[in-house]
Amino acid sequence: MLTMTNMIPVITIDGPSGAGKGTISQLVADQLSWHILDSGSLYRLTALAASWDNASIEDESILENIARELDVAFMPQDQRLRVVLRGKDVGEQIRAEEIGMKASKIAAMTGVRAALLKRQRAFASLPGLVADGRDMGTTVFPDAQLKIFMTASCEERAQRRYNQLKEKGIHANLAALVTDLKVRDEQDANRAVSPLKPADDAIMLDTTEMSIEQVTSKVLELAKQTFG
Ligand code: DC
Repeated sequence: MLTMTNMIPVITIDGPSGAGKGTISQLVADQLSWHILDSGSLYRLTALAASWDNASIEDESILENIARELDVAFMPQDQRLRVVLRGKDVGEQIRAEEIGMKASKIAAMTGVRAALLKRQRAFASLPGLVADGRDMGTTVFPDAQLKIFMTASCEERAQRRYNQLKEKGIHANLAALVTDLKVRDEQDANRAVSPLKPADDAIMLDTTEMSIEQVTSKVLELAKQTFG
């Protein structure tokens, strides 16, 4: 039965850093012509705004305020979303490893998570939403009709990240990427509030041996089974 909270179709895709959630969410959302929520970008934007404000990464009440007042717009352009923070296009800037690491740190703060909750839920609108993150299926959209927990081995995730950076002409060190991913996995999985973990009703999808096309088709097949 459809209730008020689950009238909007929602697919949640959670999992550790670098599992391919962002790429797959975008492709699935494109195919279905649904909206997309890249929830990690909100934590990254909070981290970037904090560094612009010279705020201490340890100060929960300041960070909570920054998160609550985040002046951000996601503007459609060429089938993608431009990410604009305080009037500045920061789409590339928020992808830096250093910002990802800071985002993971501040994401452990209860106040920051609470400040971003409503904003994330507001992304759910017809015809549907694909939401990617760590706690989409457990906390933000517990009523989602299709929940996927996407994993891949740490080495494979680091290799994918390395290839992505190389394609952009950015120098990277594979061993350092493996270490960074392990630190972030550890931080994200062991925090007290909304830790990275599969929802009880999530479908586990290990993509280590799968291509982007195979993962996309699998998710679309599951979407078809769920939503018709
Ligand atoms: O998905 P990402 O790498 O852009 O996310 C950056 C960090 O934000 C990640 O290490 C943990 C945090 N995050 C979170 O705690 N909850 C989410 N739903 C999404 C991201």
